[in-house]
Amino acid sequence: MKGAKDKVAEDGVSFASLIEKIEIMRSALRWTEKLDRRQIEKLLSQVSAVREQAMKLSHTNRFVSASLNQKSAKKASVAQRRRDLLERNFQFDGVFGDSPRLIEALEVAERVAPTFLPVLVYGESGTGKELIAKVLHANGDRADEPLVTVNCGAIPDNLLESELFGHKKGAFTGATHDRAGRFEAANGGTIFLDEIGELPLTGQVKLLRVLQSAEIQRVGSDVPIKVDARVVAATNRDLLAMCKEGTFREDLYYRLSIIEIAIPPLRERKDEIPLLIEFFADEAAEQLDLPPLNLSRRLEAFLNRYEYPGNIRELRNLVFRLACLAESTADLRHLPEYIRPQGVAPDEEPKAADLSLVDVKRLASDQAEKRFLEKALSQEGGNVTAVAKSIDMNRAHVQTLLKKHGLKSKDFKPVKA
Ligand SMILES: Nc1ncnc2c1ncn2[C@@H]1O[C@H](COP(=O)(O)OP(=O)(O)O)[C@@H](O)[C@H]1O
Ligand SMILES: [Mg+2]
Repeated sequence: MKGAKDKVAEDGVSFASLIEKIEIMRSALRWTEKLDRRQIEKLLSQVSAVREQAMKLSHTNRFVSASLNQKSAKKASVAQRRRDLLERNFQFDGVFGDSPRLIEALEVAERVAPTFLPVLVYGESGTGKELIAKVLHANGDRADEPLVTVNCGAIPDNLLESELFGHKKGAFTGATHDRAGRFEAANGGTIFLDEIGELPLTGQVKLLRVLQSAEIQRVGSDVPIKVDARVVAATNRDLLAMCKEGTFREDLYYRLSIIEIAIPPLRERKDEIPLLIEFFADEAAEQLDLPPLNLSRRLEAFLNRYEYPGNIRELRNLVFRLACLAESTADLRHLPEYIRPQGVAPDEEPKAADLSLVDVKRLASDQAEKRFLEKALSQEGGNVTAVAKSIDMNRAHVQTLLKKHGLKSKDFKPVKA
């Protein structure tokens, strides 16, 4: 700010010279007994000139500081920008990643979250659009109010209107009670319209009306009800192309897309895959109460190059599956059949060349541990307490190990005749 204070704009105006002019006008006003028409006119024109110059200067200053900010944003590393978000107490709500495009999306989200402006989130299925909606909600001043999700693609056309806006008793067969719709449920909060591209044209017209008037009418009623719901919409369709082809209303599109946030597909930010695997592996270990996931080298290579048509959702599901199925080191054979490379049988053990020495040791140790437990269990007839005692181990620990190896004590109980 110090530099800006005495900065001289192109036409020679500075804040200092403006203040001087204001002071002259102030003293003129103070010392004049009575102003005649001519003096008033003169002062007024001086005031306007000063006002104009102040606006110009402030505009220039804003422009300069904006371009400075932009430069520093470009220079800051992605990691730094993520730390900055954290420091500003940004609620990530489970969003993870460090691709510049994701951080940029979060920065936009941070800026628009506290406003009432509609946001349109673009991205393929599984890229985290719903997560962004949550982030927008969590970082706004409506965070304590409801966030209501409507999947426009999942509701049959004839029910959509009643689902969104509610209905009056008797409005149609089956309408046995007055019922509030999703917009009313979201009053004060946020409504997330997922798959907005699937909304039929009739629904689009009604939605546009609601956005314009901030009022809804329940189906079968002509009483308008005020609703204040911040709209976040999401789609994986090209809405502009749909506008051209007449399947999406242009006026609605412009209304919804004041702010657009695009989330790139995972295959366009592949360097994030290892980090995401680690993140989801930790999550899986914690949620499923499993030991940390360990990947064979060839599985890791596969996961790093795979295209993920289902994006982050698919990656997350894969990691959970691997964590659950792999006893020690997860390998290609643990992949679901639809992506398992040809020639890998589901029961095929990895070859030594595909594993690191650490993997091999862990594998051997795990196998030995499992065999040891199986033996103890059959000797004790599936009695876990007895097993714990016989191997001098705490019972809870034995249970954990059994879980780790997928062993069930009841499988070792003697069959009753
Ligand atoms: N950046 C991310 N960090 C962590 N998890 C993510 C991220 N993006 C997506 N996910 C997870 O992937 C799954 C799909 O996300 P979702 O928001 O439902 O995607 P979309 O609505 O685009 O289909 C969810 O389980 C979500 O938690
Ligand atoms: Mg979704």
